[in-house]
Amino acid sequence: MSLDDLAEQIKLCTRCELRASATAPVPGFGDIGAKYMLIGEAPGGNEDKEGIPFVGLAGRRLNQLLELGGIDINDCYLTNVCKCRPPGNKTPRKAFITACKPWLMQEIRLVMPQTIITLGATPLGLFSSNGVGQMHGTIMEVVIPDAIKVNLIAQYHPAAALHQPRLWSVMLNDWQSLPESVPHDYMIVTWVRVKEWLNE
Ligand code: URA
Repeated sequence: MSLDDLAEQIKLCTRCELRASATAPVPGFGDIGAKYMLIGEAPGGNEDKEGIPFVGLAGRRLNQLLELGGIDINDCYLTNVCKCRPPGNKTPRKAFITACKPWLMQEIRLVMPQTIITLGATPLGLFSSNGVGQMHGTIMEVVIPDAIKVNLIAQYHPAAALHQPRLWSVMLNDWQSLPESVPHDYMIVTWVRVKEWLNE
């Protein structure tokens, strides 16, 4: 299957009630073989209108952070845990995340990124039971069965500093010094979590 075929399927999705209020599902954007897969929470207002992830304010912040991390946006596949905008940009409920998860799995299997960067608590929650306050700026290794072994870097959501301005300097530091070591206990936590995730 190609990414275009997958995008067409995602656009027809009615697996949860978010579809009813969204303009349309927003599939990921980027190419097969992208070095990095960046996973956000869900489309916001601009993304909902334009049908592309991270085209609004959060996207502009993300571009700044990528530049700091020395990551070229052309090496990235951008996507979200939930493909439809939650009304009022609320954090998606667990049922919506569960309904949408198979699309993300298919994206991972098709794109085969070397590194996944989770942006905020919602995508990190798919891979780790630790929160983003503890994990931000750390790198783990995760294995996606039938797919690949990837590095996973947990980062705050780029929009987090809009609500908590003091986080911006933390985020700048995290992106400037992307870590190189993989703490062993995080790997174990992650393994357990990925297995739970796939069995759900
Ligand atoms: N926030 C997200 O998590 N994803 C987007 O695509 C835009 C804003």
